[in-house]
Parts: sequence; structure tokens; C-alpha cells
Amino acid sequence: MTEALNVLMRWLHITAAVVLIGGVLYARLVVAPAIASLPAAEQDTLGDAMATRFRRLLFLAVLFLLATGAYNVILNLGRGALYQTLLGIKILLALHVFAAGILIVKANNPKRTRQLTGVMISGLIIIAISAVLRQLHLP
Ligand code: HEM
Repeated sequence: MTEALNVLMRWLHITAAVVLIGGVLYARLVVAPAIASLPAAEQDTLGDAMATRFRRLLFLAVLFLLATGAYNVILNLGRGALYQTLLGIKILLALHVFAAGILIVKANNPKRTRQLTGVMISGLIIIAISAVLRQLHLP
């Protein structure tokens, strides 16, 4: 029973990470350059419309990452100094992703592309740290 709950929580955590970081990668590397090729007058309209549609997904992903992340932390208490240090760095970077993510989905945001770059970099580092955390306690 506990194992089923752990699997469900891991699935939710990974799925939320995929939605958030995958969406940001697509927005930064595919959508932003495509929008930049439009006439200036249309750029803000399309950018804002896409940001508005991503907003609900992003908020849901943040909510699920916080809830399932807290569950994962409780599950992994007492794993030692290196684990705790890396987890602390990961959580700080996650806070950057959440804060900048909330700014990105706001309308009238001339800094959106730069913020997408920041979230993309932090997100990729977070995933790398998560892989190390997992490696630190493989059976
Ligand atoms: C942008 C935000 C986040 C991303 C992209 C992310 C991504 C991931 C990924 C890919 C894993 C590996 C899953 C696995 O192998 O089981 C993971 C595990 C984990 N995450 Fe997150 N996460 C995020 C936020 C958080 C937050 C906010 C917390 C804590 C409050 C957290 C705590 C953990 C813990 C404790 C693990 C387990 C690591 C282990 O296997 O020892 N995560 N995360």
C-alpha cells in the first residue's frame, strides 16, 4: 500500500516536472524565436495569448511539485550531509523556477524570453541534481 502511494507520488512529481520544464523549453527554444519573426505589432498579442493559456498548467505543476516534493523530502530524511546539501540547493533553484515561472505567465511582460532562459537553465540543473540525489541511495 505504501509502495503504491510512493509510486503515485513519484509519478505526479515527475509528470509535473515534465509539464513545467518541458513547457518552458518548448516556449524558449521553439515559440520565442517563432514569435520574434512576426511583425512587431503581433508579437505581444501572440506572446500574451500563449502565456495566458500556459498559466493554469504552470500553477497546477507548481502546486503538485510542492506537495509531492514535501512528501519526497519526508521519505528521504536522514540520508546524510551531502544529500541534504544538494537537496537544499535544489529547493532554492526550484524557488527560482516557481517565482520566475509566475512572472513568465503574466501579460505585458517584455522580459519573458530572458526569464524563460533563466528557468530553463535552473530547471535543467534541478533535474541533474535530482539524478544525483537518486544515485546517492540506489539499492
Ligand atoms: C522545478 C521543480 C522541480 C523539478 C523539475 C523536480 C524534478 C525532480 C526529478 C526529475 C526527480 C527524480 C524522480 C525520481 O527519480 O524519483 C525528483 C526527485 C525529488 N524531488 Fe524534485 N523537482 C522539483 C521540485 C522539488 C521540490 C520543491 C522539492 C522539495 C520540496 C523536491 C524534492 C524532491 C526529492 C526529495 C526527490 C527524491 C530524490 C531521491 O530520489 O532521493 N523537488 N525531482
